[in-house]
Amino acid sequence: MTTEVTGTPDETVLEAQFADTIGRKDRIEPRDWMPEKYRKTLVRQVAQHAHSEIIGMQPEGNWISRAPSLRRKAILLAKVQDEAGHGLYLYSAAETLGATRDELTEKLIAGKQKYSSIFNYPTLSYTDVGTIGWLVDGAAICNQVPLCRTSFGPYGRAMIRICKEESFHQRQGYELLMTMMRGTDEQRASVQESVNRFWWPSLMMFGPPDDDSPNTEQSMEWGIKTHTNDELRQKFVDMSVPQAEALGVTFPDDGLKWNEERGHYDFSTPDWDEFWAVVKGNGPCNDQRVNHRKRAWDEGAWVREAALAFAENSAAGATDDAAPTDDTAPTNPATTAEEAAK
Ligand code: 3HC
Repeated sequence: MTTEVTGTPDETVLEAQFADTIGRKDRIEPRDWMPEKYRKTLVRQVAQHAHSEIIGMQPEGNWISRAPSLRRKAILLAKVQDEAGHGLYLYSAAETLGATRDELTEKLIAGKQKYSSIFNYPTLSYTDVGTIGWLVDGAAICNQVPLCRTSFGPYGRAMIRICKEESFHQRQGYELLMTMMRGTDEQRASVQESVNRFWWPSLMMFGPPDDDSPNTEQSMEWGIKTHTNDELRQKFVDMSVPQAEALGVTFPDDGLKWNEERGHYDFSTPDWDEFWAVVKGNGPCNDQRVNHRKRAWDEGAWVREAALAFAENSAAGATDDAAPTDDTAPTNPATTAEEAAK
């Protein structure tokens, strides 16, 4: 949205231009005027998303040193590193809204910002790496592909790259489980046991039911969200059932059946009391996840300080180079470099 104005623009004009941009399904960019509530909602969602990517490294990182082969270890390392990258793109997107990574991380550690409920469940076996790839990354893709068209430019552009990588994550998980299903009875049982544990928490990733979701309506009006929580949950169930059949596993839900009339699978209601308990900090691993993040943040303080000092010194050095004060100072660094190379 380009706003050409002279003098102080009237807020109602700016609001109308903002609404017009949203109505055209065009992007809002960081320098555009935006309502304060729109900015705050985005910071909340993008920060929660960034924190989820970073905290999400922990459950699977737990298995890197115990991967069953070099190939599986290389895949898992690459995946966990991708999640770090996703967190950084998202913190950068939040930065364009005026919220720094330091500030957001401090809020996460202080329990003032959330991260996805799914990462508060433990990874009890290596099989969980496959199940997380298939179901958790699968749910993430369902939720995040529509976010590529979200109304805030930097968030939508970050999501495009993230989704490409999430697709790889999902496939590696499914491939791992498929390999195990072709193995021994014990391996097949391990896959089923892992799927039983992760199915319901994966459905909860999409957030509370629409009737109980305070943010959805406004976020849809602003084009931040393009689908409701329940719509995406249904899409995920419809997508996952045939994949489970191909794999040879079942989901732990007696109410799961195809509804010809609706053209969708019916499924039972997730345990929303469990969901809210986890969101409020009382899941199986909440303390462990946040304490680990805090330890890493504290222990990394010297690295951040050193990087900052290096950047400041380099910037000061660059300024000195740009303004030589004596006759012997090189005037053309390219010539100097060529001479040095001789
Ligand atoms: N875990 C923790 N908190 C959740 C949650 C979940 N699964 N779902 C909802 N909540 C919280 C919301 O943040 C909100 O609390 P707040 O107002 O204090 O922030 C409250 O529950 C009510 O929920 P709403 O439905 O009203 O909230 P939203 O409109 O923000 O919708 C959302 C929730 C669907 C998760 C939305 O924020 C979203 O689409 N976010 C972007 C995607 C994201 O963050 N994904 C996290 C997983 S990342 C990941 O999976 C990594 C990958 O590598 C696997």
